[in-house]
Amino acid sequence: MAAISMKNIVKLYGDGFPAVNEVSLDVRDGEFMILVGPSGCGKSTLLRMIVGLEDITSGEMRIGERVVNKIAPRARNLSMVFQNYALYPHLTVFENIAFPLRLAKVPGDEVQRRVTETAELLELTEHLERKPAHLSGGQRQRVAMGRAIVRQADAFLFDEPLSNLDAKLRGQMRTEISRLQRRLGVTTVYVTHDQTEAMTLGDRVAVLRRGVLQQVGSPRELYEEPVNLFVAGFIGSPSMNFLPASVDRSADGASLHTPLGRFELRDPRKAAAIGEREVVLVGIRPEHFEDALLVGEEKRLRGSIVQARVDVTEWLGNELYAYVPYEAPPDVAAQLRDLSRELDSDQLRTQAVVALDAGSLITAGHDADLWIDTSRIHIFDPATGTNLTRDEERVAELSRVAEQSRDAQRRAQREAPDPAA
Ligand SMILES: Nc1ncnc2c1ncn2[C@@H]1O[C@H](COP(=O)(O)OP(=O)(O)OP(=O)(O)O)[C@@H](O)[C@H]1O
Ligand SMILES: [Mg+2]
Repeated sequence: MAAISMKNIVKLYGDGFPAVNEVSLDVRDGEFMILVGPSGCGKSTLLRMIVGLEDITSGEMRIGERVVNKIAPRARNLSMVFQNYALYPHLTVFENIAFPLRLAKVPGDEVQRRVTETAELLELTEHLERKPAHLSGGQRQRVAMGRAIVRQADAFLFDEPLSNLDAKLRGQMRTEISRLQRRLGVTTVYVTHDQTEAMTLGDRVAVLRRGVLQQVGSPRELYEEPVNLFVAGFIGSPSMNFLPASVDRSADGASLHTPLGRFELRDPRKAAAIGEREVVLVGIRPEHFEDALLVGEEKRLRGSIVQARVDVTEWLGNELYAYVPYEAPPDVAAQLRDLSRELDSDQLRTQAVVALDAGSLITAGHDADLWIDTSRIHIFDPATGTNLTRDEERVAELSRVAEQSRDAQRRAQREAPDPAA
């Protein structure tokens, strides 16, 4: 096991395009790190540089104590699982798992022992003599994982390993991978663009945009305290709403005029963060709205109420989505449209999406009173996209919580009875 440390890693492809640009990232020993970002942002390129399948243009890559820039993939002692599994069709499950051990000329009885153990861990024992073509997608995925874990590598690298599976299997494999990683305690870097995987699997998540690292933090930190518009829009589903707002300063704070209506910003810290700006972007997650009729008196006072015309509703059983189109000045509308395109989002940006209690009776075509939890809103600089209201104290607290829960989970996994025993 080993830590992976990247310093100012750059990858220029032949055409001079920086696919990865000055990325510095430390993956701790035993940590589960997720890499996310839209298609083409450089996730696979970064992963392939860790394994050694891609040359590093500049910067320093360390695995444990060693600088590996010039070290051949095979000598790095890492295991990679690819999206397409890359199993050998003519070999049995046993031999597929045994493959890296055979390459390393491990003695036959040890191969037998390690493959048997791995197969038990992955519940593949009864399939060991079958060929990959006769297995289900999930079983093939487990064989690919078996091949990766059988050889006691210093780290595991996964490139969207579950993207070929259907939703139910993805869910099952996700929990399997999580459990396995915590049990084995092996440093892991996992590329995905699946929201749920990003939020649930990792100890920390690193968000990339056009080859540039935006933020690294626990899933909760990225959700609650994103550093900029990009991370705020990328993490969370449906995405955070961004509303242009003009600012009116008053003695006890500020009020914000948004296309959904005007509301008071009572938190003096947030009001101060606006500084001298006349116009800002207000970020409100869909889940921080509620049908005002369903909000009790005490909660109501903690937020603000706006009146908005809902044009479409979607009742999902556990919640209700309502869509609220709004007008925005052309330059802001264009900026939001660009952001939405870059985020691979299917949302039109000049409509707010609000997630309400499923008991709400709000209907399309009518005005509705919407309560906004103003304590949860973020304010962004429209020029730079920087989150002006990031709360460093909260960030420190969230990191501490993440650290504790990670240790607790590891301990629980190590002490749990071995399912293969
Ligand atoms: N062999 C190559 N030659 C030139 N450009 C490349 C090469 N491989 C990747 N790129 C470019 O580098 C950028 C990053 O590609 P990469 O495959 O790392 O993205 P990704 O984040 O893994 O995307 P996806 O989610 O679609 O897999 C892209 O713009 C891509 O076009
Ligand atoms: Mg990729």
